[in-house]
Amino acid sequence: MPCPAAAAHVAVPSDNRPLLLLAPMEGLLDATLRDVLTRAGGIDRCVSEFIRVTDTLLPHRSFVRVVPELLNHSRTRAGVPVRPQLLGSDPVCLAENAARLAELGPEGIDLNFGCPARTVNQSRGGAVLLDEPELVGRIVAAVRRAVPARVPVSAKMRLGYQDDRRAEECALAIADGGASELVVHARTKVDGYRPPAYWERIADLRSRLGGRGAPRLVANGEIWTVEDARRCQQVSGCSDLMIGRGMVSHPGLALAIRGAGDVPWEQVLHWLSDFWAQVSLRVERRHRAGRLKQWLGSLRRHYPQAGFAFDTLRLIHDPQLIEAWLQAHVPSDVLVSVAPQPDPVGC
Ligand SMILES: Cc1cc2nc3c(=O)[nH]c(=O)nc-3n(C[C@H](O)[C@H](O)[C@H](O)COP(=O)(O)O)c2cc1C
Repeated sequence: MPCPAAAAHVAVPSDNRPLLLLAPMEGLLDATLRDVLTRAGGIDRCVSEFIRVTDTLLPHRSFVRVVPELLNHSRTRAGVPVRPQLLGSDPVCLAENAARLAELGPEGIDLNFGCPARTVNQSRGGAVLLDEPELVGRIVAAVRRAVPARVPVSAKMRLGYQDDRRAEECALAIADGGASELVVHARTKVDGYRPPAYWERIADLRSRLGGRGAPRLVANGEIWTVEDARRCQQVSGCSDLMIGRGMVSHPGLALAIRGAGDVPWEQVLHWLSDFWAQVSLRVERRHRAGRLKQWLGSLRRHYPQAGFAFDTLRLIHDPQLIEAWLQAHVPSDVLVSVAPQPDPVGC
């Protein structure tokens, strides 16, 4: 039986309190971890990791592979909406694929203008597009035109590629293209993930975009604690936040920002065993242990106990031994047990 706090997903009232979004994180925050983190509570909406669009029209299964929540009305098990994200550079291809995706009833469609990966940038996708604000605007406008008005179109950008001089131009292009929301990761591509995040530049964008009719602005980058969240809100002028690594290392962070107390390790153990149960169902056997250790590696930042667990399991690859460790360390009243699973079909 899960402990009560674990089972409870904090309902999101429809008042005007700040939005807290779970960030897209390709290779780390997939549907399985989204599921567990949204069950932890406090998150209003997720953006999926990117789906790469080139010159082909993707079949439905390509979208569903990355965003299986599409089969559940674009929601996680906890009922939190998930917005698929597209990454590409050709307005026509993106528009056609967005229309195809819209057939699956996504909660919205997000566009990636921030990916720093060299392979992506070399094929003119992600952050490198920030050197071409006019193209950014055309992409947003084409996608906006291609999907029904009831499907929100949003964008996520960094401050620039080499430097932040064209950040305002890009934000204006995204606004003019018709995006209803703009998440700003307050760093350039060259900054990578190195602190600090330049939250004050989001305030500049906010004043440049003006008020009425402008997209809802969401601040992102380096929010690890409640104090970071408050300072980011103050400096950026945005009450709405997107959080990535902070949530992975501290799954109770969104709840804490909303005023709840810190989440004890025992609670995290429940989430870990829930995560493991789902990994065992969805992931190929030889990758299962790696997935658990990857999350433990992030949890170390907030929970010293995760560090001990990580050190113990570091060299273990056999899922049965991981299962045995969980059985031994997770109290039986919060353990989510899992029957031994063969490899999932289709992996
Ligand atoms: C491993 C990893 C994968 C990411 N994948 C994506 C992605 O698919 N799409 C995207 O827009 N941003 C992606 N990001 C950027 C995050 O969404 C976020 O902007 C960044 O981590 C800063 O926020 P944080 O400090 O709260 O983590 C990724 C970041 C990391 C670390």
